[in-house]
Amino acid sequence: MNARIPVGILTISDRASKGLYDDLGGPALKKAAQGYGWEVAADALVADEKRDIQRAIREQIARGCSLILTTGGTGVALRDVTPEAVREIAIRELPGFGEVMRMESLKITPNAILSRNLAAVVDRALVLCLPGKPSGAVECLSFVVGAIPHCVEVLQEVPTSC
Ligand code: MTE
Repeated sequence: MNARIPVGILTISDRASKGLYDDLGGPALKKAAQGYGWEVAADALVADEKRDIQRAIREQIARGCSLILTTGGTGVALRDVTPEAVREIAIRELPGFGEVMRMESLKITPNAILSRNLAAVVDRALVLCLPGKPSGAVECLSFVVGAIPHCVEVLQEVPTSC
């Protein structure tokens, strides 16, 4: 079991990146990740721009993060491009994560139907895209946390030839 998972936290928000308001989602996810016993190895804050999001994810992977938690940009606003940015660089998507996050979040808010939360594999890292609202991001992480250590472990395995 990969207990000390190196985690990257990525806040995606036009307004927070311009300093118009404080980034609350990143620190909330950092606290949650540490609470799960993981090691926060990198954090970043970028605007809702596909290229910036993709660059930040690649940088965190290069710094050794095997799990990247993003917050923001998963909704319906025209500037919400997190799912598109991640899908463009992913080798595969893991639909079960988004399905569970929406199903459980719907018990809390009807607006959860608007969320395009997802999980995808980029290189060997698991990228989890969570809502922008800090409490929503932490809640959504809690709904899927049970599957994360095994997923990260499998992705880090060195393939053996048959
Ligand atoms: N999921 C949970 N668990 N709790 C929430 O408060 N907020 C929803 C949804 N998912 C929410 C949630 C709302 S209001 C929106 S608009 C979408 O996530 C997308 O959020 P984002 O665009 O900030 O990423």
